[in-house]
Amino acid sequence: MSDDVYRLISPSGTESELPVYSGTTGPDVIDIARLYKEQGVFTYDPGFVATGSCESDITFIDGEKGILMYRGYPVEQLAANSNFIEVSYLLLHGDLPTAAQLEKFDHTIRTHTMLNEGMLNFFKGFRYDAHPMAMLSAVVGSMSAYYHGEMDASNPDHRDIFAHRILAKLPTIAAAAYKLNIGQPFMYPRNDLGYTENLLQMLFSVPAEPYEIDAVAAEALDLLFILHADHEQNCSTSTVRMAGSSGANPYSAIAAGISALWGPAHGGANEAVLTMLEEIGDTSQIGKYVNKAKDKSDPFRLMGFGHRVYKNFDPRATIIREMCHRVLEKLHREDTPLFDLARELEQVALKDDYFIEKNLYPNVDFYSGIIYRALGIPTSMFTVMFALGRSVGWAAHWREMISDPAGKIARPRQLYKGPATRDYKPIEER
Ligand code: SDX
Repeated sequence: MSDDVYRLISPSGTESELPVYSGTTGPDVIDIARLYKEQGVFTYDPGFVATGSCESDITFIDGEKGILMYRGYPVEQLAANSNFIEVSYLLLHGDLPTAAQLEKFDHTIRTHTMLNEGMLNFFKGFRYDAHPMAMLSAVVGSMSAYYHGEMDASNPDHRDIFAHRILAKLPTIAAAAYKLNIGQPFMYPRNDLGYTENLLQMLFSVPAEPYEIDAVAAEALDLLFILHADHEQNCSTSTVRMAGSSGANPYSAIAAGISALWGPAHGGANEAVLTMLEEIGDTSQIGKYVNKAKDKSDPFRLMGFGHRVYKNFDPRATIIREMCHRVLEKLHREDTPLFDLARELEQVALKDDYFIEKNLYPNVDFYSGIIYRALGIPTSMFTVMFALGRSVGWAAHWREMISDPAGKIARPRQLYKGPATRDYKPIEER
């Protein structure tokens, strides 16, 4: 593992040789495990900008070159040739499935989409206008109250069953949340339908009339789920790993990841992009909002722009932008003004020195909301859609983390800046 060292000499002259490890590709890492013992200091990296938290075989990102690959397969090739169920198998098991493996996996997912009937009672308790992400995280967290019989993390079969249940049941929970929001009856899943077709019928069909699944919509959703399936050690995935590292059950770890994804700096950005575009209104206002985004005294940020890792283009944004155009044309949707506004905003920002200097480019969330909206999915459900795609990545990372024989509980340290030791004062002396 270690083929080189970094020598660190403290101000007092103490020298440490820190091992350097090389991966398959990407930057080397310096193992600092001995640093505190030998030098009495911690490293300091708020937000973990330059800190590797683990080894992983799942996903690789190169932020400078705009590279994203799942188990070594470039996302562009998977987007062009694969589908979400096949990509899910790849992320969970490490290789593309044979025809027989794919058929068995697809059948397993199709036949685990129903919820325990008792879980549907949760939706009777939520307010009709509860945010669907609040409902998703709550009901997914409750899965540990239903499936406690198969939560032995040391049992490979239980690890498989967990992954299948997460992948299969999250669309059903998501659709139930949406139906509560719009006051329509819950629609049960159908085993004769594929993953995205089933989601569309649970979202949009009603008992009162037949529902015809739009093939363009199903294909667009499948591609969006492939592009959202995993993304290395992002905030929500790291949350799943951290929660799972304590030995907490995997359903609770996934529920923690859903909560982390909800933030507007992360998966909540796709919802925030549509809200922003609607606030901008038309292209005449673009300059005003770009200036607001550049104004340090103004908290406004251009949602859907910038990325912790991609300091060039986000390969997913490139694919989604192209798909956006096709979907709007095929669906003959009148949303093109919103798409035209987004493209004009992108062009203005990409020519602006502030965005160029800070390497701020459109990310995965900039265009995805426009497609969801064109498919009839409301803004409040955008981050839920992100969670459905990312659920398989979370499950894959939880499995990798829990299977690591050298795994330990995640427990970072800090730089303490609070008060020095002081004595308690009786209240009459305060
Ligand atoms: C996702 O990690 C992942 O992989 C995430 C994700 C995934 O698939 O899991 O890719 C999904 O979360 C995509 C990102 C979605 N979020 C947004 O679109 C929200 C808007 N973007 C930002 O808030 C921001 O760009 C982040 C949070 C995405 C990244 O922030 P960083 O890496 O912590 O960078 P930063 O906040 O330190 O910004 C660097 C500079 C700052 O200016 P200075 O302090 O150096 O003067 O760029 C500025 C920021 O003010 N900046 C922006 C900006 N994003 C960064 N200025 C205006 N508009 C923006 N969008």
